[in-house]
Amino acid sequence: MESKKRVLVSGGAGYIGTHTAVELINSGYEVVIIDNLSNSEASAVDGVRQITGVDVPFEIVDTCDKAALKRVFEKYDFDTVIHFAAYKAVGESMAEPLKYYSNNLESFMNIVGMMKDFNRPNILFSSSATVYGEAEELPVTEETPRQPATSPYGNTKQMAEDILRDCCRAYPDIYGIALRYFNPIGAHPSALIGELPRGVPNNLVPFVTQTAAGIRECLSVFGNDYDTPDGTCLRDYIDIVDLAKAHVAAVDRMAEGKMEAKYEIFNIGTGNPVSVLELLNTFEEVNGLKLNYKIVDRRPGDVTAVWADTHKANEVLGWKAERTLGETLKSAWEWEKRVRNIK
Ligand code: NAD
Ligand code: WQD
Repeated sequence: MESKKRVLVSGGAGYIGTHTAVELINSGYEVVIIDNLSNSEASAVDGVRQITGVDVPFEIVDTCDKAALKRVFEKYDFDTVIHFAAYKAVGESMAEPLKYYSNNLESFMNIVGMMKDFNRPNILFSSSATVYGEAEELPVTEETPRQPATSPYGNTKQMAEDILRDCCRAYPDIYGIALRYFNPIGAHPSALIGELPRGVPNNLVPFVTQTAAGIRECLSVFGNDYDTPDGTCLRDYIDIVDLAKAHVAAVDRMAEGKMEAKYEIFNIGTGNPVSVLELLNTFEEVNGLKLNYKIVDRRPGDVTAVWADTHKANEVLGWKAERTLGETLKSAWEWEKRVRNIK
């Protein structure tokens, strides 16, 4: 039997990290998780262990702490790192830019530097559709020009992409893939792992499920006067398990030495624009409940529409989103019910 390959997952106790760890293990990879638990709970890793039946190694490590990171590189052998560890709240990044620049960039540069020193070749970086801003063309392809970032968070994604591109160019043994995620939503079908935002959610779907659970009284729909079919914004909502599988496809491509360039970028979305009202209607329909919502003013900083051209990921990675919006929104509600102990 072919020997398994090991992947280091930084930020692996988080929302996307846990789901990706599960899919990697299901595909035959061994996984090591590191996380400083700044936005997650250690119990999330137990969820990964429960789903997979594998006692996944987990270390509490801050990726900004070089000495601690070095010990991880000394202890475990792996070819590939998936780097999720970052702060991700756009609004908070406006108020505390230094917190974002230092955590998101320092941790990223530490990881790449350590990979270079330890001859570990492959890095997969979590980028974001936020780099496209109010895009010049829709759907956006990987060639669509990035727009100047409108938040320090968005800027850290653009800067990290550029740092990775430069490192891949300069260091012969470093290969990089940036995945630009669109709007990840939903939870694992087992409801053992999912998204658990701290405090009041910023993102639409956690606000929806918390409203359905009675934790939030009313959901605000931010604007219905956009230039879209029903006046609400259009986004590309990507199922979390599908997103996790995209990581496996990218890791396979690196592990099998199939990359055509040293640095590659892929859009990871469904290719389907969905409006806020469509999403709310689908949530109500598949879960058989009514949501309390009202239309309010636009949220500053929101773009009208963004969705992915997914041809490159479909053709080059051989990956395609599979779960329907309804299935995904059902999984989001099942997770919320489990967390809140709702029958
Ligand atoms: P998350 O907050 O659930 O997961 C990130 C994890 O990284 C958390 O567990 C946190 O504790 C950890 N972390 C943060 N800083 C760390 C550090 N210095 N050292 C060690 N661990 C650290 O977020 P997520 O939604 O899973 O996002 C994962 C990645 O994907 C992030 O880089 C995020 O910017 C990016 N991304 C997320 C979205 C989204 O909407 N969820 C969209 C595009 C890109
Ligand atoms: C989706 C739609 C809102 C909440 C953000 C980040 C982006 C990326 C993904 C990390 C918009 C509307 C929302 C609410 C609403 N993250 N909405 N009521 O803004 O597309 O993207 O998360 O990289 O960088 O900016 O996602 O879920 O906040 O909003 O009407 O209570 O839902 O206006 O149209 P967004 P979102």
